[in-house]
Amino acid sequence: MERLVVNGGCTLKGEVNINGAKNAAVAILPAAILASEGKCIIENIPDIEDVHCLERILRSLGCGINKIDDNTLEIDASDITSVNACTEEVRRMRASYYFIGGLLARFKSARVELPGGCPIGVRPIDQHIKGFEALGAEVTIEHGAVAVKANKLIGANIFFDVVSVGATINVMLAATLAEGTTILENVAKEPHVVDVANFLNSMGADIKGAGTDIIRIKGVSALRGCNYSVIPDQIEAGTFMIAAAATRGDVTITNVIPKHLESISAKLIEMGAIIEEGDDCIRVTVDKPLKGVNIKTAPYPGFPTDIQQPMSILLSKVSGRSIVTETIWENRHKHLDELKKMGASVKVEGRTAIMDGVEKLTGAIVKATDLRAGAAMVIAGLIAEGRTEICDIEHIDRGYPHIERKFRELGADITRIRVE
Ligand code: EPZ
Repeated sequence: MERLVVNGGCTLKGEVNINGAKNAAVAILPAAILASEGKCIIENIPDIEDVHCLERILRSLGCGINKIDDNTLEIDASDITSVNACTEEVRRMRASYYFIGGLLARFKSARVELPGGCPIGVRPIDQHIKGFEALGAEVTIEHGAVAVKANKLIGANIFFDVVSVGATINVMLAATLAEGTTILENVAKEPHVVDVANFLNSMGADIKGAGTDIIRIKGVSALRGCNYSVIPDQIEAGTFMIAAAATRGDVTITNVIPKHLESISAKLIEMGAIIEEGDDCIRVTVDKPLKGVNIKTAPYPGFPTDIQQPMSILLSKVSGRSIVTETIWENRHKHLDELKKMGASVKVEGRTAIMDGVEKLTGAIVKATDLRAGAAMVIAGLIAEGRTEICDIEHIDRGYPHIERKFRELGADITRIRVE
């Protein structure tokens, strides 16, 4: 078992390069199974546990995987031998549900274990199922797995009841090879949704409107391999922006798309931080005391739920009261129980956290209760007095590549230790 040990009190300074987006990569890898001929060469894939897990699932389905380097994979899905994704790995991660849409599109049949993922609330897949059924699939859930089959898939108009990243991408995958046109309404507009659509179009799909409220997909007869590079990770970038502000540092975050970070930049500016945007970088500095602000998470282009937890750490140690309202997940304040062990003044009422900034946090032994909560606790350790030890860091490794190395390069005192 490993833990991260952070000795607080540093000021982060320097440059940090952002990796490819986790939530784009974990959809693009399953989407590669749609190529019935040719290989997909995918670059800028983050070197994280969720990606390693997907590589193993792809292999178990019969895909050829050639790891060109730590961030580049060649996937040959031309000879898939199985439509059965029922392993412990599938159960462990969320994005494995993209194999349902992908296998359904290409083979008209799939059996995929129900997905796991971060314990941040009930995570239904009813909107995915609604979309598959509208395209003509029969969907059953038995023995903990989703089974889908269809004689053929036919384009349909589908209006999602909730804005869902997963359902938008999954039904988009299923519709790429359907007969006729599919129109998806009330879709998610996150940058990773657009990235997956761009990837599918590079494979020969005909998808228009990704990034708006309506996506139109004209079914094509087959998709082929392509070369593609994953977009930079909006959430990893946001995490470093917040860490920079929290330590009153001077950090330039490179390989980012500043437009994707606007809601985070706007909140940091409202708090008093200085944000300078370049073409593909953002510099965060602080020259005066920061003040509390209110945060309400929302689908893109709103404030991302995945940044709410790191942001609440920063808010716990600035002057004044902040109110953080989580509208996407019903259970995404668990990290605040850990933060209280470090001296934070927080009251959680349902989905709302009321935070009164304190003068100081003090190091403690805390848990990474989920992925983003783990990154949040690293930031807490950086701004606390003394030593913080973070347990259950396998959550962090699922989504942040080489987190301790990156923080160390910015001047943090952070190490990974092994404990029995
Ligand atoms: C994706 O999860 C991300 N995960 C999450 O990031 C992120 O928090 C979330 O989108 C929102 O941005 C991946 O991309 C792998 P949703 P997803 O479907 O797709 C409800 C991280 O830290 N809903 O957009 O599972 C649902 O309950 C992770 O990287 C239904 O009601 O989220 C939630 O309230 C954590 N029925 C809301 O929609 C459905 O069928 C948004 O969920 C689907 C979702």
